[in-house]
Amino acid sequence: MSPRNVIIVGSTGAVGQELLRILEQREFPLKNLKLTASAKSRGRTVKFRGETLKVEELKADSFAGQDIGLFSAGGAVSKEFAPVAVKAGCVVVDNTSAWRMDPDVPLVVPEVNAKAIAGHRGIIANPNCSTIGLVVVLKPLHDKARCRRCVVTTFQSVSGAGARALEEMIEESKAVLAGKEYRRTIFPHPIAFNCIPQIGQKKETFQPSGYTDEETKMIQETKKILEDDTVRVAPTCVRVPVMRCHSESVNLEFSKPISADRAREILRSAPGVRVVDDPSKMEYPLATMVAGKDESFVGRIRQDPTVEYGLHLWIVSDNIRKGAALNAVQIAELL
Ligand SMILES: NC(=O)c1ccc[n+]([C@@H]2O[C@H](COP(=O)([O-])OP(=O)(O)OC[C@H]3O[C@@H](n4cnc5c(N)ncnc54)[C@H](OP(=O)(O)O)[C@@H]3O)[C@@H](O)[C@H]2O)c1
Repeated sequence: MSPRNVIIVGSTGAVGQELLRILEQREFPLKNLKLTASAKSRGRTVKFRGETLKVEELKADSFAGQDIGLFSAGGAVSKEFAPVAVKAGCVVVDNTSAWRMDPDVPLVVPEVNAKAIAGHRGIIANPNCSTIGLVVVLKPLHDKARCRRCVVTTFQSVSGAGARALEEMIEESKAVLAGKEYRRTIFPHPIAFNCIPQIGQKKETFQPSGYTDEETKMIQETKKILEDDTVRVAPTCVRVPVMRCHSESVNLEFSKPISADRAREILRSAPGVRVVDDPSKMEYPLATMVAGKDESFVGRIRQDPTVEYGLHLWIVSDNIRKGAALNAVQIAELL
């Protein structure tokens, strides 16, 4: 790979900070790295490869001379600035939901559908973090036995709602333990010592169907990435007081027989998947085990005897790493 000029949009956020770590860890060939965020972060400094870089305010002229833009500053910023970047000749890899379902924008998980990148017209979308964790495991099983239906319940960490949400959980937990009042600004209900069956902070996240936006993304994005509209996905997405990593309880119905042993064998050789599945030693994936790791971890693989060809799985993946920053950098590497 020849070195590229890369700009990070949203460099001070949870995903932005992880992007910096991953570019460093994977020795991404950089000619220059430009960091941007909102006006309030202008002048902040960040250490990268032993150098001190200054964060700039994102502006329309930020993209001149940039080859690749890694966007993670929210959907509104991506809607406004991705076309500006493309016009300036910069290819955008977008972590937000702004462009994912646009028919002209490939939605890519490199282990699943890397070839879709070839059709890009300047913007490539990163799927939702819960969808990425799921499809990395689902795709190799789908290829062998065609999944007809996927019922998934997510247990999503607070870092999925950004850096300030993580702070809110920590501060609220401290307040609860000290018997003090806490004024929330991010979550609609207490997140300390609680589970909230709603991802997204506003009531508008509920669609007329009864599903939230997050759940709707899982339904639509899974079909788009697998290039198979026939896969029926029924999600319930829950915010839990975990710092990092999304866990998912997954029930799959297939068109053909597939045993738990066969699924384990398929998954052991699947790219981006790590099988941790030994009930005799109480070994299965945990958020605390998976934080900072690249793969989608899977365990508790067992037959579902209540349907003809069914499996239960437990998947855990790092929402900030594979669910966002790592996937974006893998796409940039493919570019
Ligand atoms: N967290 C996850 O697990 C995850 C996973 C997949 C996708 N995503 C998506 O990635 C995006 C970022 O998520 P995050 O968790 O990193 O959020 P975050 O921690 O809240 O960070 C947001 C970033 O966007 C910047 N920003 C906000 N408004 C801006 C503006 N008007 N102009 C320029 N920069 C602006 C912020 O800069 P300041 O610091 O200056 O405000 C900050 O750098 C979201 O769209 C999210 O849905 C997140």
